[in-house]
Amino acid sequence: MRWRDGLRQWAYGWYAIFLASSGSVSLRAWCTVVLDVLLSRWRVAPLPPLPALRRSGGVAVVTGGNSGIGLETVYGLARSGMRVVMACRSVSRGREARAALLQRWKAGAAVDIEVMALDLSQLASVRAFAAALIARYDRLDVLVLNAGVMALPRYTETADGIEAHLGVNHVAHALLTQLLEPRLRVHDGRVVAVSSVLALLVDRFSAADGPRRWSPACYRPFAAYAFSKACNYVWARECQRRGMTAFCVHPGGVKTEVVRNLPPPIQRGYRWFADWCLLTPAEGASTVLHACLCEPDTLRRQMPGTFAMLADGGARSIPMPSWMNDAAVGEQLWRCTESWYAERDVAWSGRGGGAAR
Ligand SMILES: NC(=O)c1ccc[n+]([C@@H]2O[C@H](COP(=O)([O-])OP(=O)(O)OC[C@H]3O[C@@H](n4cnc5c(N)ncnc54)[C@H](OP(=O)(O)O)[C@@H]3O)[C@@H](O)[C@H]2O)c1
Repeated sequence: MRWRDGLRQWAYGWYAIFLASSGSVSLRAWCTVVLDVLLSRWRVAPLPPLPALRRSGGVAVVTGGNSGIGLETVYGLARSGMRVVMACRSVSRGREARAALLQRWKAGAAVDIEVMALDLSQLASVRAFAAALIARYDRLDVLVLNAGVMALPRYTETADGIEAHLGVNHVAHALLTQLLEPRLRVHDGRVVAVSSVLALLVDRFSAADGPRRWSPACYRPFAAYAFSKACNYVWARECQRRGMTAFCVHPGGVKTEVVRNLPPPIQRGYRWFADWCLLTPAEGASTVLHACLCEPDTLRRQMPGTFAMLADGGARSIPMPSWMNDAAVGEQLWRCTESWYAERDVAWSGRGGGAAR
């Protein structure tokens, strides 16, 4: 629509002037986040031609594939001809979601979607899932690290004693990636981490204080979420440096159940606001699918010079602050994350997999 394009250009024009004149990093980050959410609907790019992007025969895993962006990602990957594993913490919710997805297909269409149990709040569950997947499939082409929790109202820990945002959104996904890496390397498989523009709110990063960064006394829900999403990005960059094909995306502001932990009045406001401002889950998933299905070289070309998070179905990339692309920070996060598994994964350390807690 013409008036929308005009308004968008006007808003971005002012925003560009503001960015150029403002010296405050956190103010700029906040403005980016707020503008990103407000303009989600106006920036939505045409969906990539998914039917043309076929990867028949490949195997994909989507964590949190039973709802929101994950569910639509499962749908898109299955439509592209892949065998898809929905990795869900509740197998019954996963099966219900799978049944609903299958109803979208024409009767008789061959669709290969399987539900497997994966609870990212327990590292033992991550190991069990990885072992089951490796036993079942001899290759893995796409691993989508999508599941996430946002803004838990109170300080919460995973079964392994890690703050829940960090544990579920980053540590468990990082362990999963490492366990599945041999299968990913069979056919140049790729990792797609679903992060968020909220990662920009983190202006200080010391991976060393990860699990100790939050305590019941100093806990801030959105800051904990933002930190875990910054870890997603830094981790994906480090995977790239270590020779894996890995991308990080921001799906946009998307109307999903991600707000389920916010106070009910805020959830009601969100739903009202979401209807006219945010993307649908299918539109949000288009960015994830773009990163899953496009040729890696095409994707790399979309992130020239400074690396960035892909957004808007590949039509836009969000430049990330230089510290997030710093190899030393990536290396530090990698080493710390490994030590967090070893220290915290009690079941595994009991079998000699790491140091005792
Ligand atoms: N919506 C947005 O505007 C937005 C913006 C930026 C980034 N994102 C990111 O997009 C991703 C998908 O979120 P969404 O918006 O689609 O929200 P959603 O509908 O709430 O989906 C989250 C998924 O994560 C799963 N999950 C949560 N904890 C888990 C655990 N311990 N083990 C396994 N699975 C777990 C949930 O499973 P259950 O159904 O069992 O709870 C659900 O399937 C998240 O990483 C989120 O941070 C979303």
